[in-house]
Amino acid sequence: MCGIVGYIGNNEKKSLLLSGLKELEYRGYDSAGISVLENGELHTFKAVGKLINLERKCEGFHSSGFGLGIGHTRWATHGKPTEINAHPHIGHYSNIVHNGIIENYQSIKESLQKQGCVFSSQTDTEVIVHLFESYVTQGNDPFSAFKKTISDLKGAYAILLITQKSPDTIFYAKNGSPLIIARNTKTKEVFFASSDAPLIGLASEVCYLEDGEVGKMDLESFARLKNIKPLSGDKLSAQKDGFTFFMEKEIYEQHKVLLETMMGRVSEEGFCLDELESLNLDSINSLTLCACGTSYHASLAGSYLIERIAKLKTKVEIASEFRYKEPILHKNELFVVISQSGETADTLEALKLAKQKGLTALAICNVDNSSIVRESDYSLLTRAGIEKGVASTKAFATQVMVLWILANFLAQKRGILDKAMLKNEANTMLEASKATQVDKKLHEHIKRLSRRYLHGHGFFFIGRDIFYPLALEGALKLKEISYLHAEGYPSGEMKHGPIALADLGLFCVTLMPQNLLYDKVKSNVEELSARDAMICALSAEYYEGCDDWIAIPSAKHYMVEFFSMMVVLQVFALEVAVRLGNDVDMPRNLAKSVTVE
Ligand code: M6R
Repeated sequence: MCGIVGYIGNNEKKSLLLSGLKELEYRGYDSAGISVLENGELHTFKAVGKLINLERKCEGFHSSGFGLGIGHTRWATHGKPTEINAHPHIGHYSNIVHNGIIENYQSIKESLQKQGCVFSSQTDTEVIVHLFESYVTQGNDPFSAFKKTISDLKGAYAILLITQKSPDTIFYAKNGSPLIIARNTKTKEVFFASSDAPLIGLASEVCYLEDGEVGKMDLESFARLKNIKPLSGDKLSAQKDGFTFFMEKEIYEQHKVLLETMMGRVSEEGFCLDELESLNLDSINSLTLCACGTSYHASLAGSYLIERIAKLKTKVEIASEFRYKEPILHKNELFVVISQSGETADTLEALKLAKQKGLTALAICNVDNSSIVRESDYSLLTRAGIEKGVASTKAFATQVMVLWILANFLAQKRGILDKAMLKNEANTMLEASKATQVDKKLHEHIKRLSRRYLHGHGFFFIGRDIFYPLALEGALKLKEISYLHAEGYPSGEMKHGPIALADLGLFCVTLMPQNLLYDKVKSNVEELSARDAMICALSAEYYEGCDDWIAIPSAKHYMVEFFSMMVVLQVFALEVAVRLGNDVDMPRNLAKSVTVE
């Protein structure tokens, strides 16, 4: 989704802004722009499409000496992805970039238009720069004008504004959308960004702004910020390492990151979650898991594990629905939010609501210091490393693993599992993580098979029990990157309606674990096969009713089969999408981190 960068210092600003935006590219965008203010002059460049178009636009421009810069990648919300609608938005002497949505922009626009203000874009953002300049015209100094502007806005925002009226300062405001200020302690340069990625390797200290913060920043002011933290990070972890796509690389590294996820938490002696040591489990009698998209599927999978292993009632909520359904919440339910990015607006707002109602909140998240982690009482990091592919893979794997560990940790605390059972669970987890190691021959087989699945009128992914959320996830992966229609269903539900679609043009990807309800799923698949649907079976045992068979290794536990099948589904989606010629890492219309409602 939209990304922001900013810079104050003596280095070449254009290239710093462009490389910062490059780091945010994976989040999804449809236009981009930068503005540089140096020697009292504003230089603004914008372009539709990929960053290369913007780079071409500003090829001949270089900036030397002290100056300021702001940059933005836009994911269209108000108005089409055109150059005019791209940020920065331009006033007479000021430029602005903005993430989020200004809900009351129409009324502000109308009142500014009455004062003679002319708008060039269809965006909500443009009102901010004109409102600021109108307050300056009324005699306010730039910072007072900025503060007045911000207090007039309703909605979510992260904003950077630069103006010729104050050529050494970037004005900033944050509410609901992430914004970070960082500094390189040696060079004294100051950076802004909407997430850590552009700052890694450039800055050594960061400040994650809180909602409601409004300020001005120059080379001297950084030290006055509250909650400055050191920034560490390894840029190498976000490279493709010889793979064509980040998604492919991320699928292949799952077995490594799962071991990271388990490190220090899982052993034959039992389960240890230091992060939850101070949590009073006696006061908790149920869990509510809340998330969006892939994280919602991981939550659903987690609910089967927690109820089965820890014997605690667990319900699952889609975050975008939760807020407005007037949910009934009890203080003795633990509210668990699951998010890769930690910035998903729907999940963050659901979390805030649960906190307002007095619930204890636990975040299961991949990004430390993200808004969701900071807003929660407790957090468990998934340790997947930076995930760049918009279609989530290793984040899902590690979320399911953390939820599985949590289920065992709760069961252990509640005295449900004896030593032998705990040991068995720990060993199964190890086996499950090994099962995600991609077998090159299997990958090749799926790649060949993928050409048979490029037509038809749609896909059903079906499974039972915990393989139902996996079926949902398999369908989501395929539709996100192949743009083919795919649905996930509990296999027992097919006969209650969806089977009406079964014919020669329907592809059914069937999840048939040996260790969980095999015969039940088999009879559901037979019903589909009898109606001529094309069956692609994922199973360890050959199923004679299938048209295609993707063999997974035989295992003794359904969770090992779960993780084996997860990899197959991810590779299947990848290979179909590649054959269709799609941009796997940045699929159309999607953003990595969805920071608007
Ligand atoms: O960062 P989050 O886990 O909160 O994101 C939630 C969803 O937006 C995300 O999982 C989305 O569905 C992915 N594109 C799935 O591949």
